[in-house]
Amino acid sequence: MSVKKLFPVTQPLKGTLTIPGDKSISHRAIMLGSLAKGTTIVENFLAGEDCLNTISSFQALGVTIDRQGTRVTINSAGATNFKEPTEPLYFGNSGTTARLMIGLLSGFPFLSVIYGDPFLTVRPMDRVVVPLKSMGAKIDGRANGSMLPLTIRGGATKGITYTLPVKSAQVKSALLLAGLFAEGTTTVIEPTLTRNHTENMLKAFGADIQVTHNEIKISNKNSLQATDVQVPGDISSAAFFIVAAAIVPGSSLVLKSVGLNKTRTGIIDLLLQMGAHITISNEKTIGGEQLGDISIVYTKLKAVDIEGDIIPRLIDEIPIIALLATQAEGTTTIRDAKELRVKETDRIAAVVDVLTTLGAPIEATEDGMIIHGKAELSGGKVSTYNDHRIAMLGAISSLITKEAVVLDDISSIAVSYPQFFEHMDQITTP
Ligand code: S3P
Repeated sequence: MSVKKLFPVTQPLKGTLTIPGDKSISHRAIMLGSLAKGTTIVENFLAGEDCLNTISSFQALGVTIDRQGTRVTINSAGATNFKEPTEPLYFGNSGTTARLMIGLLSGFPFLSVIYGDPFLTVRPMDRVVVPLKSMGAKIDGRANGSMLPLTIRGGATKGITYTLPVKSAQVKSALLLAGLFAEGTTTVIEPTLTRNHTENMLKAFGADIQVTHNEIKISNKNSLQATDVQVPGDISSAAFFIVAAAIVPGSSLVLKSVGLNKTRTGIIDLLLQMGAHITISNEKTIGGEQLGDISIVYTKLKAVDIEGDIIPRLIDEIPIIALLATQAEGTTTIRDAKELRVKETDRIAAVVDVLTTLGAPIEATEDGMIIHGKAELSGGKVSTYNDHRIAMLGAISSLITKEAVVLDDISSIAVSYPQFFEHMDQITTP
């Protein structure tokens, strides 16, 4: 346990931060770079614990991966040379590694045994296991194969057509990765668009993939070609400092080279609706992914309802959006976000607990929360639930509380944002 006591700031936040690499894209770069024969160089890789677990999984499958800071060099003999892992693969806290790897490993005839930390162990895996079994993969494990640890023996799979019953990029991606090795065509239909980094990167690596609005088709026709990846900054990490600038009066921050893929920019659209002063500059597209610099200047905000198709576009930002809502004028209702209950922790319960501890008027609902603003926040001792985004919510809250905030354990932050406190110091030290 690593406790941290944080004090409110007495002056506006100022400065420029370069946000670390996107977690979702970093995972996918290691996966596709390992599947492709040849050398793939990944720049601005997120060296957080989750993505490091993805690297070690592929090393266990026989791929040579060398990391120097945020630059990763993958030398792979190609997917056909993957070897049966001698040890169980450990995915730590990483839901993305787990779901995507179950899909990918379904393409291989050898036995893989996979497990994670106690928090990942209670998260649902049946959402990928059920469709992958119908493709022919043999998957078994705890709770009738719905929870880790699991065993997977893949190979000889056949493409299916599958309409996603949950709004999940992880499920979509698991099926697309399985589709790379399945006979025939695998078609995934998603009623609501979710992050599309897998599709973008599969195209860049030369896969036989077609995307038409909400339908994706993939086949095993093309083998992947090694392709260098430049990972944009993670908008889900940037979100903590975007909100910081939006709630500390007089602040002005610039966040450099942040990913601006439309499937991820719900938080920017939301802030604009709330009346924020937010601008984007230096926009470019690399490897099918948009990026640019985000500038935000403090201004008063009004509450808006958050529901429907925007939810998957800001799902990981909801904890910090809840804090934002406490500082907006009026009542914010968040709906259609039941998925939060099966994230790293039950994020509806955790957010409501943290913000209630700090004195905010907030109520949980079955699929979201109701937050009344504008609220004055006191300090207090906050439980972080071993969830990186809940710990960072607590830390950013401390900027505007009346007294100190004590976080019971900040170690989870290393999952997605190892430099988080350095960055906090950078913008709070005049
Ligand atoms: C992710 C997808 C989302 C997101 C998670 C990362 C991904 O999960 O919450 O942090 O990299 O595909 P779901 O697909 O389960 O919604």
